[in-house]
Amino acid sequence: MPKTQTKTNTATFERRDILSFDQFTPNDLFHIFTTAKEMAYQVKKKVPSDLLRGTITTLLFYEPSSRTFASFNAAIKRLGGQTIDIQNPGQTSSVAKGETLADTIRTFEAYSDLIIMRHPIKGAAKEAANAASIPVINAGDGIGEHPTQALLDLYTLYEKFGRLNHLTGVLVGDLLNGRTIHSLLRGLSLFEGNEIYLLAPQILKLSPQDKQDFRKRGLKLIEITNDKEIPKTANFWYWTRVQKERFTNLSDYERVKTAFTVTPELMKSRAGKDMILMHPLPRVGEIAKAVDKDPRAVYLRAQIRNGMFIRMAVVSLILGKKL
Ligand code: NCD
Repeated sequence: MPKTQTKTNTATFERRDILSFDQFTPNDLFHIFTTAKEMAYQVKKKVPSDLLRGTITTLLFYEPSSRTFASFNAAIKRLGGQTIDIQNPGQTSSVAKGETLADTIRTFEAYSDLIIMRHPIKGAAKEAANAASIPVINAGDGIGEHPTQALLDLYTLYEKFGRLNHLTGVLVGDLLNGRTIHSLLRGLSLFEGNEIYLLAPQILKLSPQDKQDFRKRGLKLIEITNDKEIPKTANFWYWTRVQKERFTNLSDYERVKTAFTVTPELMKSRAGKDMILMHPLPRVGEIAKAVDKDPRAVYLRAQIRNGMFIRMAVVSLILGKKL
């Protein structure tokens, strides 16, 4: 059976690749969220599931990962599926012998029903999907995108505010290289009336091309240069790590790595009572530990949990398994 073409068939996710957030419609998101909510309920009630029994998913991660790798893994296992876990294939597989990405993909597709891949090169997920006859999920392609992270981020926002339109957000940190940012902005631009403040060191600003593109989509983007300009009315802050691995000059990294940090004082002076503080993690100094106990901080709670529920939903929808 051929793969379902992305974009042309939004009624079903069966056998669909997930490469970019661009392929989702608002309806797709709500369909995924409803399924994720059911998954969350099942996990909470400890209902054992064998929904994915008889399926094998390859997790092929060329870049380090804690949450994305483990949450996909846990999601699949909670639904009774099995995984082939390849972390660091540059050292542990034939990639070390010079095998091409296309050949690696053709190998794993012979053993499995789905490939979930993280890769340092932007566009690599698309290349893998072109080579594969089974679906491919992009778990991060360099500075490109990280669509399932944005799904869990939007789900977290939806759980909290009951809507994804008319939200005011502040995105902070590495807006140039952060793939979670690139997918999240695509998601936010699907809904009306969202107003997004951007705060980044000069060298890590969202690219002019991206800015133009997102504005064209109707997203209101406002650049600020100082944390004192963060609007107190913001519904959410989305802080990110400066992506050290994308720098060619490490002294540049050192100069900007903690340009903007969240402290209890900043929360006190700029954060509204009902806002949430988000971060895709890992954090490396840009959110003070003392902020963790603030009930508005959701990065170590809702976001991590939701990651597994969203991935349970996504994998089962792609593999055509209904609850
Ligand atoms: C992010 C990533 O890999 O893009 N991590 C994640 O998947 N939650 C963010 C980061 O590495 O900074």
